[in-house]
Amino acid sequence: MRQIHILTLFPHLFDYFNHSILGRAQKKGLVQFFIHDLRNYSTDKHKSVDDQPYGGGAGMVLKVDVLVSAVRDLKEKFKIEHVVLMSPRGKTFSHSIAQNLSNLNSWLIICGRYEGLDERAIQMVVDQEISLGDYVITGGELASQVVADAALRLIPGVVGNSESPQFDSFANGLLEYPHYTRPAEFEGKKVPEILLNGNHEEIKKWRDSESLKLTLKNRPDLVEKFLKKQK
Ligand SMILES: C[S@@+](CC[C@H](N)C(=O)[O-])C[C@H]1O[C@@H](n2cnc3c(N)ncnc32)[C@H](O)[C@@H]1O
Repeated sequence: MRQIHILTLFPHLFDYFNHSILGRAQKKGLVQFFIHDLRNYSTDKHKSVDDQPYGGGAGMVLKVDVLVSAVRDLKEKFKIEHVVLMSPRGKTFSHSIAQNLSNLNSWLIICGRYEGLDERAIQMVVDQEISLGDYVITGGELASQVVADAALRLIPGVVGNSESPQFDSFANGLLEYPHYTRPAEFEGKKVPEILLNGNHEEIKKWRDSESLKLTLKNRPDLVEKFLKKQK
């Protein structure tokens, strides 16, 4: 069973994991989530976890002593193999990063808040910084759910066969082909004839070609990488 640990100041924001595919994955015993409250590691009577930045400036910074003792304690208790920090300055999240994380047995995601973490904590306890993209959100909680979801759905058995992630966008390097369902015609727009004829070989060819066309149109950079890999 894979164990995913989250270190956050807002543990109540993680109900997402209890529903749908990830909820079922927990019931099947494939994954287990542990949500840890960073505030439990505060040592003063006000339970403070942040302080003003040295050098001045706006915002608060998460304290190094609190973070380091939290991560060390959790690593020892739960045999955590890898520590991820959600951070705008990290490497942009991708299918291949999700794939690597999906192979780990026990990993921890730290959710930043305010201005982020004291730099020393990053140097001392973080193995990998991951960004969702070139923008800033208010905290790492949403970002960590995106990363955990994308990685965990790649574990065999988490997603049912019918929705197998091996055919999803990025799995083979390209975007997925378009989907259609009933009705066969809506306000004059028809489902492509080829999908109605039951010829699986023809349907596969059509889907491969649509996948390539769509990727060329929306993400030509992916086609370039895909073709290089084929050589
Ligand atoms: C308001 S942000 C801090 C931004 C930081 N001062 C900066 O300029 O890079 C607070 C926290 O949200 C999370 N966060 C914000 N944007 C993110 C992104 N694009 N990817 C991943 N995490 C992000 C991080 O955990 C970060 O520590």
